[in-house]
Amino acid sequence: MSFKILGTGRFIPPKVVTNDDLSKIMDTSDEWIVERTGIRERHVCTEETTVDMAVEAAKNALENAGVDPSELDMILFTTSSGDYTTPANACLVQARIGATCPAMDVVSGCPAFLFMLDCADGYFARGRVKKMLCVSAERMSRVLDWDDRGTAVIFGDGAGAVVLGEGDNYLTSRLFVKGSTAIQIPNYDGKSPFYTSHAETPWVHMQGQETFRFAVTRMVKDIRGVLEDTGLTMDDIRHILPHQANLRIIEAAKKRLKARDGLLYVNITRYGNTSSATIPISLDELNRSGQIKEGDYLVFSTFGAGLSSAACVVRW
Ligand code: COA
Repeated sequence: MSFKILGTGRFIPPKVVTNDDLSKIMDTSDEWIVERTGIRERHVCTEETTVDMAVEAAKNALENAGVDPSELDMILFTTSSGDYTTPANACLVQARIGATCPAMDVVSGCPAFLFMLDCADGYFARGRVKKMLCVSAERMSRVLDWDDRGTAVIFGDGAGAVVLGEGDNYLTSRLFVKGSTAIQIPNYDGKSPFYTSHAETPWVHMQGQETFRFAVTRMVKDIRGVLEDTGLTMDDIRHILPHQANLRIIEAAKKRLKARDGLLYVNITRYGNTSSATIPISLDELNRSGQIKEGDYLVFSTFGAGLSSAACVVRW
């Protein structure tokens, strides 16, 4: 027994920041950002917290699934930009949506949504849960170095969620890790009078070109891997939902995979990189706009800090 997706939800903070808005506060331009990344605008929080966004996305997903919070057996939550290191942000979502089940965070950078689905798969396989909420929320604007134009222009804020029930629709997954700090958000160094060295500032630090190469290579390998696992071909797949980090990464992967136009979903133009919330946001957009039908095969593919990457196949 594995799971099927019963419902999806998202929350995007209303404040839009365009590339032109950014060019007023840092040395950048709409032309550079569009040409190098494809991003035209992103949404950022003004008063919403990470948990606030997660709660709204969760409520939307529960409503979409027709599931009451009291029915949930487990809540998992991913974030790289949570409100707390402890308690787990999931615990606050549990209280605010009125659930009583166990809840915990899964930390794995941008790919965390897929690592979380793989954990969820284990709970269903052991028969420990019948209904589960998986939510990803990212307030990347809180962890960005706004003096670093190389990273400040590419991220955005948002949240996405799915409600899972028993089913056999999670067909396969591939997870990959190559331990590295090429993308990192160091923790605050603390105030110990005994500690002798100093960590980097607690903002996003990224080696852009190394990440770019890793991303394209892994997307292609992971997607080919999950297709091989299932015996499906690219023609059988209704949508590939790739991590949205750079339009050029998506286009390079599309070319190497020889994928048809439109197969790889793109919304980076409007959101930038919303880290682990990216795939559930994309999924909710496709679901609510009627672009997924029962029986459709979907591939999710992601990469990022870890360095790590993952892909999976889900039948709708
Ligand atoms: N506006 C204008 N110029 C910028 C800029 C910005 N926002 N950011 C960087 N530049 C400049 C650099 O200073 C550099 O100038 P120089 O040639 O005078 O030194 C030049 O543009 C090229 O910088 P570079 O870092 O080589 O650009 P790039 O083509 O590699 O693009 C990224 C940078 C970050 C967009 C790209 O490397 C990338 O997307 N990498 C993958 C990131 C990723 O996937 N991260 C998320 C993982 S979850």
